[in-house]
Amino acid sequence: MTDAANPGVAGPSRPAAESPITVAPIDLRHVDSFGDCLAEVARERKYLAIVDGFTLEQNAAWVAADRSLGNPFHIALDGDRVVGWCEVRRDPLPGRGHGGVLGIGVRAAYRRRGVGRRLMATAIADAWVRGFERIELWVRAPNEAALSLYRKFGFVEEGRRRDAVRLDDGPEDEVLMAIRFVKEPV
Ligand SMILES: CC(C)(COP(=O)(O)OP(=O)(O)OC[C@H]1O[C@@H](n2cnc3c(N)ncnc32)[C@H](O)[C@@H]1OP(=O)(O)O)[C@@H](O)C(=O)NCCC(=O)NCCS
Repeated sequence: MTDAANPGVAGPSRPAAESPITVAPIDLRHVDSFGDCLAEVARERKYLAIVDGFTLEQNAAWVAADRSLGNPFHIALDGDRVVGWCEVRRDPLPGRGHGGVLGIGVRAAYRRRGVGRRLMATAIADAWVRGFERIELWVRAPNEAALSLYRKFGFVEEGRRRDAVRLDDGPEDEVLMAIRFVKEPV
């Protein structure tokens, strides 16, 4: 059941289904496969603002930095192959350090099997444990799948960046969404 004051803590309910996919914190040995997964989603050009992946060195530096900063960074694995990821990157600015930015993606062949939902639930729960009090993200406005997923975890729209992305389908807005963790008074 979802905690009404703290949306996303438990995530929306759903019947358990058998799945060979595991979700785990990212480990440096998964960097190569993570980079391949990110690049695959980026090359679809419909969902992210990047259209290709990064070098192995860039991905290794990214993952190492996240791990040393204690940022939630989980992956979905089919055996040893990374098929999805979800990261919450803490904002480096002192005045915004209670918040982080969420990024998620699942390889196309693994979508609509509950992997995104599991990654979100794990990353959000980990973020609250690690003291994040706000998680935000930008999503391209036509991305109905992601919008629906985020709403199910309690993200609400806070704003809109007009004409923010221009790739293959003309100008697109980006929607700012966020959830907040409300601490109980002592
Ligand atoms: C968004 C994304 C991560 C969802 O992952 P997924 O594993 O397919 O999602 P799940 O199977 O766990 O579905 C969870 C919920 O997401 C929403 N959703 C997922 N795919 C959807 C689709 N094609 N249409 C509408 N809603 C969809 C639904 O609300 C769904 O709940 P339901 O099963 O009760 O309908 C995946 O579509 C993806 O990787 N997209 C490309 C990358 C991307 O858009 N990243 C986010 C950029 S801001």
